[in-house]
Amino acid sequence: MIAICREKSEREGLSPTLFVQPMHELDPPRTYKTIFVCGGFGLGSDRERDVEALHRFYEHLDRGGTLVLDNENPYSSGYPWRYWRKEERSSLPRAREPLESVDRRLGSDGAEYALQSRLVDLDPLEQRATYEMHAGMWRDGELVRQEEHTLHINFYFMNETILLLERAGFTDIVVHAGHREEAPTGDDDFIVFVARKP
Ligand SMILES: C[S@@+](CC[C@H](N)C(=O)[O-])C[C@H]1O[C@@H](n2cnc3c(N)ncnc32)[C@H](O)[C@@H]1O
Repeated sequence: MIAICREKSEREGLSPTLFVQPMHELDPPRTYKTIFVCGGFGLGSDRERDVEALHRFYEHLDRGGTLVLDNENPYSSGYPWRYWRKEERSSLPRAREPLESVDRRLGSDGAEYALQSRLVDLDPLEQRATYEMHAGMWRDGELVRQEEHTLHINFYFMNETILLLERAGFTDIVVHAGHREEAPTGDDDFIVFVARKP
C-alpha cells in the first residue's frame, strides 16, 4: 500500500515522507498540525496498545493541533454484533468456505487476489473479535500462493472513546456522523472524532 502511495505521489510530483509503523510505536521525525487515522484504530492490536497509540498521536501533534479519527461502531452492520449474545456465540467458529469460492480481484501485476475473513471468536467482555484472514493469489487460474493470519479487532463505543481521548489529553472533542459534519445518531455505522491538543 505504501509503495502504491509513493508511486502515485511521484506521478503527482509530490514527495511525502512515507513510513510503516504500528500506531502504538508511532515515532515520526516531527510533529504535525493534523493527524488522520482512517479505518485503522483498534485493528491488529490490543486495548493497551490502542491507548498507547492515542498518546503517540497526542505527542506528535503541534500545540493546537487536531486528531481526526474514525471508528466503526460495534453494532455496525459490517460487524458481527449478533455474536455478542451467548446463544449466537455457541455457533463459533464460523464454518470455513473454500478459498476458491471467494470473489477474486485483478491486481495491477496481472494476478488475481482474494481475501476471506472467518470469525473464530468474539469476547464481549473484552470487546474483541478474532478473525482468521485467508488470502490467495492466482496466476492463469492456478492458486500459486496463500497466506493465513489472525486479525484481532477491538470494539469501541462512542462515550468510551471520548473518555480515552480525554485521558490522552485531548480537549474540545466533537463527534461527527460517518464522514459528514453532522451530529451522529444510533443509525450511523461509522463516527468520526475530531479532537484538539490544547
Ligand atoms: C481497513 S484498512 C484502511 C486503509 C486506509 N486508511 C483507508 O481508509 O482506506 C486498515 C489499515 O490499517 C493498517 N493497520 C492496521 N492495524 C494497524 C496498527 N496497529 N498500526 C498501524 N497500522 C495498522 C493496516 O495495515 C491497513 O493498511
